[in-house]
Amino acid sequence: MVQQRMNSTAGGVCITGIARRVFKKKERIVGHVHRTGIKKKEPSKIRQKQSVPLSVVHEGRLQELFHSCLDVFKGPGTVPAQYDVTTLCRILDNMTLEDVGLSRQISFFNTQNAVEEPPRVTTTTIYKCDNFSLSLFFLPATATIPLHNHPGMTVFSKLLVGSMHIKSYDWVDSVDESVPTSKLRPVSLKVDSVFTAPCDTSVLYPTTGGNIHSFTAITPCVVLDVLGPPYSKEDGRDCSFYKEYPYDSISNEAKPVEEGEEDMYSCLEEIKAPESSAMYFVEYFGPKVTE
Ligand SMILES: [Fe+2]
Repeated sequence: MVQQRMNSTAGGVCITGIARRVFKKKERIVGHVHRTGIKKKEPSKIRQKQSVPLSVVHEGRLQELFHSCLDVFKGPGTVPAQYDVTTLCRILDNMTLEDVGLSRQISFFNTQNAVEEPPRVTTTTIYKCDNFSLSLFFLPATATIPLHNHPGMTVFSKLLVGSMHIKSYDWVDSVDESVPTSKLRPVSLKVDSVFTAPCDTSVLYPTTGGNIHSFTAITPCVVLDVLGPPYSKEDGRDCSFYKEYPYDSISNEAKPVEEGEEDMYSCLEEIKAPESSAMYFVEYFGPKVTE
């Protein structure tokens, strides 16, 4: 993902540089969904590569989002009230690429540059504390963020640009999410649709709204994610990945629904982080938020 103000004197992110890393490969692949290792590039080097200045930066919306997150997310175990969800969605629904210092002119959106196969996702963190995080994800066309969960989290996803297929599930049974399991577990389908920006913000909750999801970019996409709280292996909120199996793969005793209702159900098995979950990490040099 990328963002940033493209004014070099303002510390803008090098969209061109990031796109170069995404598409021209040879960059070290680090981390997985939402938990990236870090191979940071020196800011000065990034700025040197800038060639496409962004013309408009609406720092106000990002700052408003940040302040609302400070008010809403009070730490692990808390789920935002509906009023707070509405507030955050209202802010996010109006956010655009420019609010995070990006432009459609960046080479990331030029599919002719996509020489890497399979295409990799790039991510950057705008802000992170114990209670919430703000991140951007950049998905070249056909790139995927494979099926993964968000234990104990509420997640707001705003598709800033592009078309993306989102598929999401919720567990049917209730199992302690902090206990790893390789057993097949039934899930109910919540979302299986293509979203095209501009579109409303998607929200998932710890046990509802499609807590386990996958993203597949149809066109180059940029997603702004708000996680409350963020992943934390130490606090039992590590990211797990899953493989989907037909509903019939589980025993009859484990099946949660009657015959004829199977279409909306599948089962998932936890797997090791797949290769497709690896992402590039780039440092954020976009509009800063201030407390
Ligand atoms: Fe996710």
